[in-house]
Amino acid sequence: MPEFSFFQGQVVPTSEAKISIRTHAFNYGTAVFEGIRGNWNEDTNQVFLFRLREHYERLVRSAQVLNIKIAYTVDEMCDITTKLVAKCGFKEDIYIRPIAYKSSDIVGLRVHDLDDDFLIYVTPFGNYLESDKGIRCCIASWSRIDDNMIPSGAKINGVYVNSSLAKTEAVWRGFDEAILLTSTGHVSEGSGENIFLVKNGALVTPDLSSNILEGITRSTIIELAEAELGLTTTERRINRSELFLAEEVFMTGTAAHVTPIIGIDGRSVGDGTIGPITKRVQDLYFDIVKGKEDKYIHWCTPALDPAITNSL
Ligand SMILES: Cc1ncc(COP(=O)(O)O)c(C=O)c1O
Repeated sequence: MPEFSFFQGQVVPTSEAKISIRTHAFNYGTAVFEGIRGNWNEDTNQVFLFRLREHYERLVRSAQVLNIKIAYTVDEMCDITTKLVAKCGFKEDIYIRPIAYKSSDIVGLRVHDLDDDFLIYVTPFGNYLESDKGIRCCIASWSRIDDNMIPSGAKINGVYVNSSLAKTEAVWRGFDEAILLTSTGHVSEGSGENIFLVKNGALVTPDLSSNILEGITRSTIIELAEAELGLTTTERRINRSELFLAEEVFMTGTAAHVTPIIGIDGRSVGDGTIGPITKRVQDLYFDIVKGKEDKYIHWCTPALDPAITNSL
């Protein structure tokens, strides 16, 4: 099935969407991006885009940090995305990657006096981590980039060198994923996920001063845990040792969904199996992202409406 992208204001086959080797964003990481999932529901023959609007609202906020002007409103980007997904027509889980970037072909360090552009590509995307079995993590030797080095609350492409180094270190050491600490040694997040601990039957997650990305899945889980499972979440600084003392630990993210962590640095988390609270959170989340819960259907944008197919 051909893949299509939105590139330089038009829909083109992804194989034709090319940037120059001199593009500022390619040379210096001066871009911001989003990762949005489309979740396939075979009962309704539908792909549901999860919290589409919230992702574009965050993209706009991230872009402001890098002085990137996006030529489209949030509504327009949602509309373009839905139509692009409809045109691609994938009947499986997909990943949507919008990028707003410094597009000038120019040598020189800055974020002012440069052109900006915006693109979106769509690709089939199954499990990112083993969310059904649980994963084993290590604590990375790389610290999470401090907010006053590159703002961690913005989803800036250049920051992902930090994440990539940590992920590769984890894999080379035989683990599935890395947990990064702040430079003061507190728990920050995974390479591309937020982290939650279960302590005394309640949830705890690093606060915004722990150099995290404020994840949309993180906010979703905090809201659902309270509303549907009666679980409170405390956002605070978390010591490294708390990772080893927690009853359960899990990661959240658009790519990772809700992924249980069953081991950290060679130690079992709890009894080394998926914990009961993690399982309840995970089951609830999977039903909601696939558009199976009427109460939360407003978070799910259907993309395979015959009326929008081929209308872009
Ligand atoms: C560094 C980092 N932290 C956390 C997350 C989770 O954010 P979200 O739930 O919005 O996907 C991501 C993924 O986007 C990420 O890249």
